[in-house]
Amino acid sequence: MTTVHRIVSGMRPTGPLHLGHYFGVLQNWIQLQQEHNCYFFIADWHALTSEYGSPQNIASFVPELLIDWIAAGLDPQKSTIFRQSDIMEHAELNLLLGMITPLGWLERNPTYKEIKQELVAKDLNTFGFLGYPVLMTADILMYHATMVPVGQDQLPHLELCREIARRFNYFYGSYFPEPQAQLTESAKLPGLDGRKMSKSYGNAISLGEDLQEVRKKIMSMLTDTARQRLKDPGDPDNCNLFPYLSLVAPDENLDQIREGCTQATRGCMECKKLLAAKMEEFLTPIQAKRNELKANPDLVRSILDQGTAKAREEAQRSMHEIRDKMGMER
Ligand code: TRP
Repeated sequence: MTTVHRIVSGMRPTGPLHLGHYFGVLQNWIQLQQEHNCYFFIADWHALTSEYGSPQNIASFVPELLIDWIAAGLDPQKSTIFRQSDIMEHAELNLLLGMITPLGWLERNPTYKEIKQELVAKDLNTFGFLGYPVLMTADILMYHATMVPVGQDQLPHLELCREIARRFNYFYGSYFPEPQAQLTESAKLPGLDGRKMSKSYGNAISLGEDLQEVRKKIMSMLTDTARQRLKDPGDPDNCNLFPYLSLVAPDENLDQIREGCTQATRGCMECKKLLAAKMEEFLTPIQAKRNELKANPDLVRSILDQGTAKAREEAQRSMHEIRDKMGMER
């Protein structure tokens, strides 16, 4: 028998969802919700740790992200979907866990050090940013998660989460499960230029992108740069476009395409045209659903309300027990 996990994961609302997110993260979530008890939330407080200077951007991305999730196949009947800041209990648990989290654990966190170095333009010397993993721990432990799907960069945070859970259990009696990480395979899909797909590199295709624009982007994609002419043999493993085909057109005869490329009988233009057509097929139903949701804000609201009610009920139950364990119950 397979174990049914309690799964928690979140995404920061910092921009439109692109294909990298879809194939890296969302597809996995959509699969997990079929068998497990899933909580997926929009981590707007986490976005605020770095975007506190322009919070209005976060607010506008929240409904967008929700619409993208649902349009792509996250099912509010199966998963509990909510926004972090709607559940105040996360803030209370963050505070309580902060009491037992040694500063050294946070200061040593490699992701913390890296991001601080990368985002020099932003002042991240804040209490909130240092405490990022504590808030994340609160998100996870609140729902007694046993498994957390995350990318490589989030692994140190998850390790901290496990240590904080252990420390809580040690002080106040066994209570929290120690969640295991489910490592999301990153970069299944490179950006249009071969680097990591990211909105800030301008090499992304977003789920809601105009199809005309998508076609243009595909037509100007880099393929195998070592292949200069049609009669040169190409290498699909050194081609930027081929991974797209394997994800967006898995039903095509990829072996045959591969052979055509390596034998120099198939040109890159053919691949581009095929990808453009398949991408359109892939995006069209997602965009139809997106437009439907966009035209119906009441529906989006009610989806969020329903998830919020369910999450809140669980969070309130957890908080009673946690306060009780810590001798703080009123
Ligand atoms: N920090 C995560 C990210 O940037 C988002 C996140 C917040 C999260 N809370 C979480 C992920 C809890 C998993 C579990 O990707």
